[in-house]
Amino acid sequence: LLLPLSATLAAYLMGSLSFAVLVSHAMGLSDPRTYGSKNPGATNVLRSGSKAAAVVTLGLDAAKGWLPVVLVRWFGKPYGLEEGTLALVGLAAFLGHLWPVFFRFQGGKGVATALGVLLGVSGWLGLAVALTWVFVALVSRYSSLAALVAAVCAPAYYLLLDGVLWDADARIAAAIGAMVLLLIWRHQENIQRLLRGTESRLGQSKRAAG
Ligand code: G3P
Repeated sequence: LLLPLSATLAAYLMGSLSFAVLVSHAMGLSDPRTYGSKNPGATNVLRSGSKAAAVVTLGLDAAKGWLPVVLVRWFGKPYGLEEGTLALVGLAAFLGHLWPVFFRFQGGKGVATALGVLLGVSGWLGLAVALTWVFVALVSRYSSLAALVAAVCAPAYYLLLDGVLWDADARIAAAIGAMVLLLIWRHQENIQRLLRGTESRLGQSKRAAG
């Protein structure tokens, strides 16, 4: 029991690294919590005008979800860490991003980190979700709408892809379901802006957002 609990705690601490804030600081940009949607995430960092900072934020926020999951998947078996722990560490990293212990529990919306977790669960699942995001983002130019559509599709993709190709696991499915619900809940303001037609589109500057 000690090992799964330590792994879960470590994943939560990793998830708590709010890379939007850390990368912006390291690159000499303003704190993303002060402009645009005020969300510490790659989409809002993009509103600073720095594509590089946004890409690095996306990569690192995804990596902190991906890493704990693949570590358990690749190396966990000999230590008795199975799918249950895999589901727990993925969810813990995601929860760390939403409620980071290092940032007074004021975190982001979890899009990049959820994608990282899904990529860790299975490359095909992550690819399908990422492609869904890219497709909706290209067509609509709304990052939030792309995230919401991709998130809603994720459980279905998991059950289809992993259910058909491999064995879908109920604990992983539950973790994915919980992430999706929390992600949608964190997008309440985006949903209201989308319905009102006031959501900022990708490519608009920081003044236009939020
Ligand atoms: O990554 C979160 C995205 O879906 C929305 O971000 O800054 O437009 O609220 P934002």
